[in-house]
Amino acid sequence: MMAIDEKKGQPIGVFDSGVGGISVLRELIRVMPNENYIYLGDSKNAPYGTKPLETVRKLTFRNVRTLLDQGAKGLVVACNTATSAAVRLMRSTYTEVPIVGIEPALKPAALQKEHPKVLVMATPMTVQQEKFRQLMARYENKADIYPLPCPGLMEFIEAGDLESERLHDFLQELLAPYLDKKMDSVVLGCTHYPFARKMIRRVMGDMVTIFDGGEGTAREMRRRLAVAGLLNPSEEPGWVKFENSVATPEELALCQRLLKQEI
Ligand code: DGL
Repeated sequence: MMAIDEKKGQPIGVFDSGVGGISVLRELIRVMPNENYIYLGDSKNAPYGTKPLETVRKLTFRNVRTLLDQGAKGLVVACNTATSAAVRLMRSTYTEVPIVGIEPALKPAALQKEHPKVLVMATPMTVQQEKFRQLMARYENKADIYPLPCPGLMEFIEAGDLESERLHDFLQELLAPYLDKKMDSVVLGCTHYPFARKMIRRVMGDMVTIFDGGEGTAREMRRRLAVAGLLNPSEEPGWVKFENSVATPEELALCQRLLKQEI
């Protein structure tokens, strides 16, 4: 067993089905710049959001194992889909590690004003899961909530396409039924979607407020590490290591690009 002081310098493990969770990694680094991170993307098996539940659970557990084997002191499931499919099981299996998942930021969107109209963009799996239904039930008398499964959207980000006309046309078609409903806000309920934020704003217009769960997740990880006495005392900037099941130089270059990308 590792002594607690030794453990504090160990990395935080962050994973997603692909490169989307880098939108959460960015928030983690902002909130805890002195921590070290291993980011694991499973782009070979992406998307998760259109796969059967059992497959997503299996893939998720494999990612967890890979990160724990490298000494991760805490885990961030930077994927709404994997969180809804497996976070409860993960917590009951790995009781000794702080595990933080991400869920669509419905709460701030529903409470931002008196009975707003809220569009929730997410993967088909996320919107089908019990976890999301319970979340929706909590806010359905405070807001009109429109869940929108977006199969096909994460693939643009996986391909590094954040602003093509093809992406614009895809979003235009997907969002067309909501344009004259006068939405107050849009929740980005998949960690890939913040990378398409500019394009979503272009289609939805300047009046909508756009929410994502990245910052809340990063703050929750910091809180959990503090409670466990595992925050890194170092005052130096930490390091980030990218791993991906597609281990090509292009894939790793995309990870670096998304880490720095203005969104
Ligand atoms: N980035 C993932 C999420 O937050 C899912 C994308 C996918 O694999 O379908 O839901």
